[in-house]
Amino acid sequence: MKKVAIVTGGAKGIGASIVRQLVADGFQVAIGDYNLADAEQFASQFADNQVKAFQADVSKKEDVDSLVSQTVGEFGQLDVMINNAGISKEYPLLEMTAEEFDQLIAVNMKGVLFGIQAAATQYIKQGTPGKIINASSVGGYKVSPNHGGYSATKFAVRSLTQAAAREFGKYGITTNCYCPGYTMTPMMKQIVKNYSQQLHISPDELEKQKSAEVALRRPAQPEDIANVVSFLASDKANYVNGQAIVVDGGLIYK
Ligand code: NAI
Repeated sequence: MKKVAIVTGGAKGIGASIVRQLVADGFQVAIGDYNLADAEQFASQFADNQVKAFQADVSKKEDVDSLVSQTVGEFGQLDVMINNAGISKEYPLLEMTAEEFDQLIAVNMKGVLFGIQAAATQYIKQGTPGKIINASSVGGYKVSPNHGGYSATKFAVRSLTQAAAREFGKYGITTNCYCPGYTMTPMMKQIVKNYSQQLHISPDELEKQKSAEVALRRPAQPEDIANVVSFLASDKANYVNGQAIVVDGGLIYK
């Protein structure tokens, strides 16, 4: 029987790349995305019954619980939960409104907490040693300009990851997170656009500057991140637990 993974935010960007990689690794994959139309269109590119799209807003606990139960209904079990969905907002602290900060917390922190809870509950019920993999960021270690609110949520993802590793290790469940650097996705293109306007330079110029800060002199492609997630989702990572793996081409040196 094939292993089964859920990827939240799997319709676009890093999540979509993770879906592609896990299918290549032999998984059946459920995408849980806020945007059902995009998720369904992406899922339709795969052969029958490899990828299934579900609508889920990870900031709503009932959506995440239902995503897990629908996936188990469709594929019979759950083996890997990837809490990838996240949003970014770029403001200095003095301009961050309570509403914007609440949205960051709702998606990036509560979304990960609800994913951990739903997956761990399912693994304990199944009696199987499942894996939980969360999206943190290099911002989970170090704050970039105008990313104070976002970074706070990504620091929190590392602590939720450590807490889950401690609490669920006794069931054989492992919990880790990946910390992407500057990765070319729809989210990053929007960040570059917003930030280049603030700096009064072109997006191309800003991209060059950001690449120059990376030892490898290039941004990550989503596949660079998906390769590491593929390892964390595999049996090769069975003894890796509670870790936050940086994938940044040489940027923050953790
Ligand atoms: P993206 O914005 O390109 O794609 C995100 C996907 O998540 C979209 O399909 C979107 O519809 C979905 N989504 C958004 N809110 C959702 C919600 N409430 N519920 C369910 N789905 C939702 O983002 P990207 O760049 O692929 O980022 C993926 C993860 O990696 C995020 O957690 C992000 O914070 C993290 N990350 C990204 C970096 C980058 O350079 N792109 C760097 C560090 C971390």
